[in-house]
Amino acid sequence: MTELSPSLGSDAAAGEAPQRERIQKVLARAGFGSRRSCELLVQAGRVQVDGVPARLGHRVDPSANSVTVDGVPVGIRPGLVHYLLNKPRGVVSSAADPQGRPVVVDLVPAEPRVFPVGRLDFDTEGLLILTNDGQLAQRCTHPSFGLQKEYLAHVRGDPSPAALRALRDGVALEDGLTAAAQVSLLGPGLVRIVIHEGRNRQVRRMCEAVGHPVVRLVRSRIGPLTDRQLHPGQFRALTPVEVRSLEAATAAAAKR
Ligand code: URA
Repeated sequence: MTELSPSLGSDAAAGEAPQRERIQKVLARAGFGSRRSCELLVQAGRVQVDGVPARLGHRVDPSANSVTVDGVPVGIRPGLVHYLLNKPRGVVSSAADPQGRPVVVDLVPAEPRVFPVGRLDFDTEGLLILTNDGQLAQRCTHPSFGLQKEYLAHVRGDPSPAALRALRDGVALEDGLTAAAQVSLLGPGLVRIVIHEGRNRQVRRMCEAVGHPVVRLVRSRIGPLTDRQLHPGQFRALTPVEVRSLEAATAAAAKR
């Protein structure tokens, strides 16, 4: 029997490979809805195991097989953790700091070891993902996946319509013109900026370039992820549905 052959309801097969589970069960655990909805996904031909269309009852080993839905990898590998942290000001986005300053990994469990996905400046607050899932981290940070990040920038002064337009259309920075951004004025000196690039200190440099230096910067959204209940310094695990939505958002962005 090959790795991919379906073993429809066979307890003997389950005995041979106790770590293998039926595809619909694996998908349900990964956040694709009820077992029934997962069966429908399989029946619709949207699920592949190691590049081959899955059939109902297909048994997979989440640690060994690659499972995709609509071509997007399903985060089903055991041992992976994904945290959403509200990073406070004055914490470095790394695993260690040569200057001995507090680092973000000190704010989440030590085991399994995780790393921050991208970085927020020492003085920036807000949402940051920490994970040991290298594949997802790559999708969230690589420019080709273009994941959106939303920031609330408290700036000095009140940006004029022309300054907002410049932020929106692209600002000439020393490392080149910024891509088009979504920009809106939420209140006096408070600007919402959505970008999909990840250049160093990008939002601060954009605001500075239009004459409105940032006095406080908060990341309020990463792709589909928001959480207004999470206080600075707090973290929580992402739900399987959230991990899946992040994967789907990077896949959608890559197609744009
Ligand atoms: N842009 C910045 O300027 N700083 C951050 O921390 C994130 C985005």
